[in-house]
Amino acid sequence: MTETVAALLEKYAVVPAIVLEDVNQAAPLAQALISGGLPVAEVTLRTPDALDALSRMAAFPNLLTGAGTVLNVSQATEAMAAGAKFIVSPGMNVELIQWCLDKNITIIPGVCTPTEVMLAMNLGLRLVKFFPCEASGGLEMLRALRGPFPEMRYLATGGIKLEAISNYLAFHPVLAVGGTWMVKPEWLANDRFDVIEDGCRQTVEVVKDARWQIAAAARVRSQ
Ligand code: 3PG
Repeated sequence: MTETVAALLEKYAVVPAIVLEDVNQAAPLAQALISGGLPVAEVTLRTPDALDALSRMAAFPNLLTGAGTVLNVSQATEAMAAGAKFIVSPGMNVELIQWCLDKNITIIPGVCTPTEVMLAMNLGLRLVKFFPCEASGGLEMLRALRGPFPEMRYLATGGIKLEAISNYLAFHPVLAVGGTWMVKPEWLANDRFDVIEDGCRQTVEVVKDARWQIAAAARVRSQ
C-alpha cells in the first residue's frame, strides 16, 4: 500500500464502523465491503470477538482495516498484532497517541471540544475523529472550529446518516465520515451480506454525486 492511510480515507470518504459479535461473519463482511466498493473498515474493539474479527478482515489485502474504540496502549498493541493498519480512539489518551506516533502508526483520536483539538494539534496531529459528531453539534460545531484551527481535518463519526453525508463532505475540513448505517446490526443479525453490499454501493453513489456537486460549485465560483 503506497498511499498513506489518510489519503486512502479521503479517497473512500466513508469509513464503515464495524461492531461484530460473531467472528464467522468477518470474512463475508470483508467481501461485502470490497464488492460494494467501500474497501475500508474500522473494526471496533467492543465485542469479545473483535480482535479475531479484525485479524480475519485484515487478511484481505484489498481491505484497509483499522481498529476502532482503542482506549489504551495495550489494546493498540493487540490490534497492531492482529493486522490493523490504523488506530481510532473515541477520545484523547496522550500515552496512546505518543506510542502510535513513535511507531509511525496512523492514530485518529477523538475530539469534540476546542481544548481537545488544541491538544491534538500540539501533539502534531492534523487528522482527528470528531466524535460523537451529531451529538456534539455536527457541521455547525465543525464550522466553528475551523476559525481557530483552519488546518485540522476530521473523520466525522457518531449519529451520521446517509442523507447527511453530502453536506459533511462538502465541508473541506471533513476528510471523511464514519458510521454504521451501511452495516446495520439487524442486517448482520440476519447474515444479510447482500444488503450490506447494496448499502455500500448506495453510499458510494452518494459520495460520487456529492463530489460532482462540490466540483460543479467550485467551477461556478471560479467563473
Ligand atoms: C463510532 O464509534 O464511530 C460509532 O459507533 C459510529 O456509529 P453510528 O454511526 O451508529 O453513530
